[in-house]
Amino acid sequence: MGVEIEIKDLTKSFGKQLIWGDVTLTIPAGEICVMLGPSGTGKSVLLKTIIGLLKPDKGSVVIEGIDIATCPEKELYEIRKLFGVLFQDGAMFGSMNLYDNIAFPLREHTKKSESEIREIVMEKLDLTGLIGTEDKLPGEISGGMRKRAGLARALVLDPEIVLFDEPDSGLDPVRTSFLNQLIVDLNAQIDATFLIVTHDINTARTVPDNIGLLYHKHLAMFGPREMLLSSEEPVVRQFLNAQMVGPIGMSEEKDADELESEKDMELPPLPPIPPQIEPSSGVPRRSQREPGVWCKENGITPPPGSFEENMTMTTGS
Ligand SMILES: Nc1ncnc2c1ncn2[C@@H]1O[C@H](COP(=O)(O)OP(=O)(O)OP(=O)(O)O)[C@@H](O)[C@H]1O
Ligand SMILES: [Mg+2]
Repeated sequence: MGVEIEIKDLTKSFGKQLIWGDVTLTIPAGEICVMLGPSGTGKSVLLKTIIGLLKPDKGSVVIEGIDIATCPEKELYEIRKLFGVLFQDGAMFGSMNLYDNIAFPLREHTKKSESEIREIVMEKLDLTGLIGTEDKLPGEISGGMRKRAGLARALVLDPEIVLFDEPDSGLDPVRTSFLNQLIVDLNAQIDATFLIVTHDINTARTVPDNIGLLYHKHLAMFGPREMLLSSEEPVVRQFLNAQMVGPIGMSEEKDADELESEKDMELPPLPPIPPQIEPSSGVPRRSQREPGVWCKENGITPPPGSFEENMTMTTGS
């Protein structure tokens, strides 16, 4: 279960504005990937290109042997059924209760009977901890519940790929932790491929198997979580540790003068790599590996204190 997404030399611009170029990465089947990047670097555009809502200038997005970028509409329509998408704001219909919102894709895309639909909707409500709220309107529930309702809706067609655009935006830290655990649990349970766009560094550090970073119109790095969390590459290091010292400035890149003034600044040491969140069922992730294996295999010494269960969750400053 879960399918691979193979992205090759993908380039996208709007008019004369290049968003990103030559993006190449393979999102492994059944794994969780997080895509990071400063605001406006085209993370949402990347998600939309992956589901074929936007056409790239060049390059390919191959899923099950079909190139999303060039295939005919009819094939695209079929391939889209593999996807569940959690939009940034949940994208619920305000005048429909949660039950009808979650049932919507089933009524739209399948010929299932209302009793079959009921069974699926209740199962997804249960999965996302929303039993008892099915009669509420989206406006009557909290932001965290709306996210979970969006997730329930993204899951009704049993997707092989789930795309999340900032599932944790606007959530308090405790809700974010619950949502992260839910994402890991769902991944273990439904075994689909997950791609998550987030600005939450703690999510990026603890949830995924792989991390990517979009910066300055290209994919700065993509690879296993341990690779990016132990990386000394200035942009990666700055972003994953939420630091001000580094090439990324408030608006875009820092200019030469700003960088010159930082030249002799000492960088704080890399914080320890936190343990990856494990499924609460105790059933390991499909891709689960011993903590530290990537570092060991690649001759990298992880920052001191890495992979300790009781480490604090600070990410440096
Ligand atoms: N349909 C469109 N037409 C023209 N320009 C667009 C379109 N969609 C996005 N853009 C531009 O592409 C750039 C990247 O936008 P995108 O929404 O992907 O950023 P992002 O990385 O998701 O940012 P954020 O973290 O703030 O959500 C922006 O400059 C945006 O204005
Ligand atoms: Mg976005």
